Amino acid sequence: MLKHFKRTLVTAALPYANGPVHIGHLAGCYLPSDIYVRYLRSKGEDVVFICGSDEHGVPITIKAKKEGITPQQVVDKYHKMMGDAFRDFGISFDIYSRTSSKVHHETASGFFKTLYDKGSFTEQVTEQYYDEEAKQFLADRYITGECPKCGNPNAYGDQCESCGSSLNATDLKNPKSTLSGSAPVLKQTKNWFLPLDKLQPKIADYLSQHTDWKTNVYGQCKSWLDSGDGLQPRAMTRDLDWGVPVPVKGADGKVLYVWFDAPIGYISATKELMPDKWETYWKDKDTRLIHFIGKDNIVFHCIIFPAMLMEHGEFVLADNVPANEFLNLEGDKISTSRNWAVWLHEYLIDFKDQQDILRYSLCANAPETKDNDFTWKDFQTKNNSELGDILGNFINRVMVLTNKNYNCIVPEASEYTKADLLVLEEMAKAPDKISEALDKFKFREALAEMMNLARIGNKYLAEQEPWKLIKSDEKRVKTVMNISIQIAANLAIVCEPFIPFTSKKLFDLLNLAPLKWRSAKNTNNVHAGHKISDQSGILFSKIEDTDIQPQLDKLENSKKENASSNAKIEPAKAETSFEEFSKMDIRVGTILEAERVPKTDKLLKLKIDTGIDQRTVVSGIAQWYKPEDIIGQQVNILVNLAPRKIKGIESQGMILMAENALGELSFVVPSKKEMNNGSNVK
Ligand code: 2FM
Ligand code: ZN
Repeated sequence: MLKHFKRTLVTAALPYANGPVHIGHLAGCYLPSDIYVRYLRSKGEDVVFICGSDEHGVPITIKAKKEGITPQQVVDKYHKMMGDAFRDFGISFDIYSRTSSKVHHETASGFFKTLYDKGSFTEQVTEQYYDEEAKQFLADRYITGECPKCGNPNAYGDQCESCGSSLNATDLKNPKSTLSGSAPVLKQTKNWFLPLDKLQPKIADYLSQHTDWKTNVYGQCKSWLDSGDGLQPRAMTRDLDWGVPVPVKGADGKVLYVWFDAPIGYISATKELMPDKWETYWKDKDTRLIHFIGKDNIVFHCIIFPAMLMEHGEFVLADNVPANEFLNLEGDKISTSRNWAVWLHEYLIDFKDQQDILRYSLCANAPETKDNDFTWKDFQTKNNSELGDILGNFINRVMVLTNKNYNCIVPEASEYTKADLLVLEEMAKAPDKISEALDKFKFREALAEMMNLARIGNKYLAEQEPWKLIKSDEKRVKTVMNISIQIAANLAIVCEPFIPFTSKKLFDLLNLAPLKWRSAKNTNNVHAGHKISDQSGILFSKIEDTDIQPQLDKLENSKKENASSNAKIEPAKAETSFEEFSKMDIRVGTILEAERVPKTDKLLKLKIDTGIDQRTVVSGIAQWYKPEDIIGQQVNILVNLAPRKIKGIESQGMILMAENALGELSFVVPSKKEMNNGSNVK
């Protein structure tokens, strides 16, 4: 049994304002939270939906340095862009605020001061890297050096991206400041720590009351508590010049740790939204607080923020934290820096007004219990075979048949048959099935139940065949169509949380004002005699291969650009002598014949006129050249390489090829045509 609360406060993780929003953000946290909130609103519950930009932290200062602008300029740019993208996708926040706002600075500062005055923090002097040229302490991301585990020379102070190890800046060999390039020195600094070690029993007690949380969330929390020495004190202040200044004496040049100030952003945004009522939402025990986040945020929302709130003492703690796992894209991790992403603002250019296809496919594939993959092929299938063939097809049939047979007037139902009663019963059950799944944050299941109602409608029409019946039993057709219109109306209600744009279109088609969740149990929402629209009921058009190919091409380009920008130019080989080099006999030759070597992907068998003779060479170029395209091609060939057997064929020499960072091969050709076969290459 769910405990009943008077109101629900839903927060969605405040995204860092240092880049546009992509599908990983949407699938991980903003879409599920929006579905949940829309559902609660439709049920008539008191719910507030809070989000905003997280505008502090090192990634933003790094971005500013890279772009040669101020951190404020960075966050101004992205705050607007992100807010627009969320709005365009129908993410229905009650407020999209920001942590650089005055109200946030005051709230976060006041929160810190309360804890400070209560003696919640411990002061500790530690040694941190300091850049003497740039005259500032260095956050972990500002230090690079050699990874002690794998030797990667470009590991960061907190992590090696090559071997994935998490590191301390002091672990790095030959550390270097990314600000000035100089070697940093260790310097003492004082910071304020939250003694999570001492708070561990209280946190453990809190978690023990929430064993019902998703297994991925509860499991991660447990492993933090149970690992090694348990929780450790964590610094809540940083030596940095971007953030909320630490409001105590002796803290010049220090700001609040971004993970201290960001979750307080939920409180300040609520304050901004409801200056008079915010306290009811944060302090009244009858509030249910729910944090929607991605899995990388679990420790902050389930351990650190609750610990801060407990220390403060006035606030409610989260009742649930339904964190998702990660979404990958075409088999690879989504990455802003590698441009391996589908950006929401770009999607809307290519798929104008088609937000619901993305909402639907991301929800159907949501990374609820494990990481999941988004592919454009699946996106196409979800649109064509589910949205189009099931939901769209049902609605279109209803619209066309009502228009054609009844001039858009809803006909009256007479006696119900067994089949009618059955379908009405199934229809009335649908909202509860969807609710049951949504109440447990099982969005995929809920979506499938929603689609199931459209399936039920389709099956009913296919079995009743009103298009045939119209010739023999007109009265019966009226009943069938009346029932089908009721299904369409109920679909408009229950699809709203998932695909709100479609829901709106559907209500418009039915010429109805939007109905609330409780009406979805009714079997007579549209009365006989009501006139529905005469517009076409086509809700989704087919997505062709040619529509998704440009998206795949875009990703392919990113891959190429990454490969070439990451290309490590191999260092020169050890010195050699002219004598050694002269031992190589390289000649100009012409390809006379070319064919694939059977049962291989890479090999071509070539017959080459070397000027000296005609000989066979097996070359690994099939991926790059078609046999028919290279007959007559001049090449450079090493003719005195010892022959060797490749796939049973004796190869008598080697064609010289250039190879780029992507592993693509190209002939190295004489640039003057008149070079005879047999000419020496020196
Ligand atoms: O991971 C992130 O994008 C963080 N900016 C999330 C912060 S959530 C909250 F604490 F504000
Ligand atoms: Zn490493």
